[in-house]
Amino acid sequence: MSNTILHINSSGRKNGSLTRQVSEKLVEQLKNSESQVIQRDLVTGLPFIDEQWIGANFTDPEQRKAPQKEALEFSDSLVKELQSANQIVIASPIYNFSIPAVLKAWVDLVARARLTFQYTENGPEGLLKNKTAYLVMASGGVPIGSEMDLATKYLVQVLGFIGITNVKIIDATTIEEDSKELIELD
Ligand SMILES: Cc1cc2nc3c(=O)[nH]c(=O)nc-3n(C[C@H](O)[C@H](O)[C@H](O)COP(=O)(O)O)c2cc1C
Repeated sequence: MSNTILHINSSGRKNGSLTRQVSEKLVEQLKNSESQVIQRDLVTGLPFIDEQWIGANFTDPEQRKAPQKEALEFSDSLVKELQSANQIVIASPIYNFSIPAVLKAWVDLVARARLTFQYTENGPEGLLKNKTAYLVMASGGVPIGSEMDLATKYLVQVLGFIGITNVKIIDATTIEEDSKELIELD
């Protein structure tokens, strides 16, 4: 079956990164000969949303002027990547009890009213359907999934908000470095 995998890395380090190693292994496991893999490495940084971006995003798409369209261009391209993928692998270390700032910047750029969620009479509704997300998490001490781990909790919350409710959590700290076995997915 053909599938598209979006692989997002957010560790600030390229060498010795557990989340990079384990998420790479997971992508290898998930892909088949027809898979398309989109790599989105956030290590070089992302723009933060600003006044221009927020103004453009809150303007009706039909009414947007050229500079407003331009302000949303990069965010549009990140949303398209997300829409095109049926499997999303997010590699996230815990930084200061939460996710790396650069991953939060990515969230701010893809949580878009009309595109990834919408407001309805019954409250907000996620618009991304039939997708599975894999969170490859690592920490230096905070147990993944514990009360102190605000990173995993936050990612599950925000993915659910945009419609991705099928989320599997992988604790990269428990995967043996030289393990040849497949990553166990529940
Ligand atoms: C800036 C920074 C902040 C960190 N904050 C925490 C933290 O709050 N709790 C924790 O358990 N580990 C923390 N760590 C440790 C990392 O989560 C751990 O080294 C993890 O393996 C990093 O992911 P990586 O191996 O993919 O780079 C922090 C590391 C860095 C560099």
